[in-house]
Amino acid sequence: MPEYLPTTPYRGTRDFLPPEMSVRMQVFGHLYDVLERYGYQRYDGPILESAEIYERKSGQEIADQQLYTLVDRSGRRLALRPEMTPSVARMIAGNAGSLQFPVRWYSHPNCHRYEKPQRGRVREHWQINADIFGSDSPNCEIEMFELIHDLMRGLGASRDMFVVRANDRNLLSSALTVLVGVTAEQLPGVFALVDRWEKYPQDALAAQAEEIGLADKQFEKLGEVLGAGTALLDELPTEIKANSNLVQVLSGDAASLVRFDPMIVRGLAYYTSTVFEVYDTSPENNRALFGGGRYSDLAGMFTPQQIPGIGFGMGDVTLIDFLNTHGLAPQPRSEVDVVVIPVTGEQAAAARSVARELRGTGLRTSTPIELRKLGKELTRADKAGARAVVIVGQEDWDAGNVTVRSLATREQRTVPFADAPGTVRELLG
Ligand code: HAM
Repeated sequence: MPEYLPTTPYRGTRDFLPPEMSVRMQVFGHLYDVLERYGYQRYDGPILESAEIYERKSGQEIADQQLYTLVDRSGRRLALRPEMTPSVARMIAGNAGSLQFPVRWYSHPNCHRYEKPQRGRVREHWQINADIFGSDSPNCEIEMFELIHDLMRGLGASRDMFVVRANDRNLLSSALTVLVGVTAEQLPGVFALVDRWEKYPQDALAAQAEEIGLADKQFEKLGEVLGAGTALLDELPTEIKANSNLVQVLSGDAASLVRFDPMIVRGLAYYTSTVFEVYDTSPENNRALFGGGRYSDLAGMFTPQQIPGIGFGMGDVTLIDFLNTHGLAPQPRSEVDVVVIPVTGEQAAAARSVARELRGTGLRTSTPIELRKLGKELTRADKAGARAVVIVGQEDWDAGNVTVRSLATREQRTVPFADAPGTVRELLG
């Protein structure tokens, strides 16, 4: 007996059979439409990058635990991209001379991370990225928040189904230093602790705080600061607030788009000020749906030029969980709209010409590859999700006619060949 290989995909990756692919394409098609309407232009890049670009800037979790690395035949260390931001920063830096800043770009790459597969987390996901490069203005933040609301609306979500929570890392650093007494050396550790605040039980957090060297009183105070919401802003120094784009947004006309939340810090190391995450309001999905932030010196890995960026990454897994939870996921499309069936092999060429005619009008149309009896072909057409069939019989064809039948109502009409597309559309309603 030959030993057969498994037909299942590698752990944490997914096959997308046509029904799942159809849902994915429809969901992301809506998102592309919204992004294009905002003037974002699509780009793409290689799945393989130098491992170094993640090791330098993305932070320890990605670099030490999640990166898929390989060495090519000439000894270069490469990685499967775990995210798109370092790649796009490289492209922007390499083409800065010919770009008219600020630029708005979007992409839809697949990203690989070696993670423990669980709800909302897999090892290969597809992520929409939308970023603005070359501006420090708070108008970028406003546009990001508006865009997020329109993307969610484009998927059918209403305002009560999600919330945009935002913070500014500089405000958080100031609160941690001034109010909690965290030292500069402890800050990175406390940021990582804050990032886990909602995901870990209290005793695990306390143990981690102790490791960082926080006293019990400080741990308690940290809890107060993180739970303070907008009231925390009153306790922060004016000069820090004056330099915060987020504070400006919160005091302007776009304030209602976002909720200030000291707990949002995000896991990636390169964010320098504004950070935000979108959450499902349903308790079924307690992980962030997607998130992003402002990074002022990621391009600095590649160029002395200062090119700030701001944007977010929106993954397919969390998004489709969200749509399923709220009953918003689209149905997979049928295989075809119409099947053209020759009664015998003699009419195969005629059937193909009718099918060509129908395709020309935008109807998704197939003809049988291996012709069976008419009854069997009708059943197959029904299973393929076709809503109409066109039957081509010799006598009809000799008279210049075909028979169009609705599979839903069984209504049937014999019409001149040239009228077939119009009749199909009429019967489809
Ligand atoms: P991130 O938070 O690491 O940010 O990922 C963004 C989104 O990608 C997540 O919220 C989630 O929807 C999805 N995602 C990430 N990892 C996984 C996974 N293992 N399984 C399933 N989905 C996942 C970034 O990647 C930043 N580069 C985003 C960004 C763009 N910031 C600025 N511009």
